[in-house]
Amino acid sequence: MMCSKPTDISKPITKESPPLGSPPDIPKLMPGGNYIKPGRDSAKSCCLIFSPPSEKVGILARYLKIFEIHEVNLLHIESRPSAKIHNHYEFMVECAPGGDLGAAISDVREISEYFTIISRNYKDNKDTVPWFPRRIRDLDRFANQILSYGSELDSDHPGFTDAVYRERRKYFADIAYNYKYGQPLPHVDYTAEETETWGKVFKQLVTLYPTHACKEHNHVFPLLVQNCGYREDNVPQLEDISNFLKDCTGFTLRPVAGLLSSRDFLAGLAFRVFHSTQYIRHSSHPYYTPEPDACHELLGHVPLFADPAFAQFSQEIGLASLGAPDDYIEKLATCFWFTVEFGLCHEDDQLKAYGAGLLSSYGELQYALSDKPEVRPFEPAKTALQKYPITEYQPIYYVSESFEDAKEKMIKYASTIPRSFGVRYNAYTQSIEVLDSKPQIETLVQNVTQEMQILLDSLRKL
Ligand SMILES: [Fe+2]
Repeated sequence: MMCSKPTDISKPITKESPPLGSPPDIPKLMPGGNYIKPGRDSAKSCCLIFSPPSEKVGILARYLKIFEIHEVNLLHIESRPSAKIHNHYEFMVECAPGGDLGAAISDVREISEYFTIISRNYKDNKDTVPWFPRRIRDLDRFANQILSYGSELDSDHPGFTDAVYRERRKYFADIAYNYKYGQPLPHVDYTAEETETWGKVFKQLVTLYPTHACKEHNHVFPLLVQNCGYREDNVPQLEDISNFLKDCTGFTLRPVAGLLSSRDFLAGLAFRVFHSTQYIRHSSHPYYTPEPDACHELLGHVPLFADPAFAQFSQEIGLASLGAPDDYIEKLATCFWFTVEFGLCHEDDQLKAYGAGLLSSYGELQYALSDKPEVRPFEPAKTALQKYPITEYQPIYYVSESFEDAKEKMIKYASTIPRSFGVRYNAYTQSIEVLDSKPQIETLVQNVTQEMQILLDSLRKL
């Protein structure tokens, strides 16, 4: 997935709790715990986090009165120790749409030590942090946030007038729409027609890989043939690939029913999760697709996600996107476009391709490495501002020295994104830790110091 203009990721390339009135249960969470519990409708509800001015008895009742006066219903309330102020605590409340929320926010802000809004309906406001997933299972919430359903085809789509193809696309979209984290990725029996289309694309591209693809792609591809059924006469299964990637780098795949927003798509990468389509392009145009399909995902994207440095680079873009303002989401999506989709790299004295849009397009792969297009070094701050076409070959490509180098540059660029907190992925709990207090960071520094000690001891023994 992800092959499109930044705000519309993945068009292609080559195109609870009781309402006010009854006392709610208030579970305690530890610092660093998750801010948000799944609401009834994450797209419409809004979460407020605030710390009361003192430990006065009855302060919660005072806050609840505010919501009552302004007729705002609460879906969920939690309290937890404040990570920002020592010996204080904070409340997180999830507000249902309706009532005079603006007035309630203003009153709550006035009497609070600090105050933050987390909302799916993010408006550019200094207090508002756009909602982002904190746990890997939160990604389930994207399934009903798609911008269009996968069976809705434009009138110029090669399969637009093919009723059988449209029905098949609905089958794939339904699989993804109903998929939940932790389930096995549904096995698909591809038809002879679909397998033939895949075979045509596969056969053509494998002739170019040895000379045009980067060494990482060429290293992983035979392993996919060996372990995941990559063959001309077989469309590999997402489940097999996801298990393979998990063994290599911890990356996993999720099926996706339609277009995701850039924000949601990039957030998946923060968890090393790649949202992948599962359908095959229309058989009438085997060498063209107006949207990402399984040929693009499996031949273009998958091999690189098995490379540790590339996997980490991709995750850095995802982590940078969490809670970032809208204009930075667009910039990060543009960086993704010019790297993960259309990136080139130096190998000895030659240029090679690592972008999935190139590695899944016989024509553009050759064009990109010819002397026709302009080539520039990848510099995130500059690259992020570059406009690009989505329905024709790229006039400009960006070159990375190495994935390590690209990763370092992305981390540096991410530090310029205006956010009042840092984020860190905890691979043990598969969750995002929001770093916004000294004690948390001190604990992490201690952990890193211990790790360093182990490394130094090991080094001495060599
Ligand atoms: Fe893509």
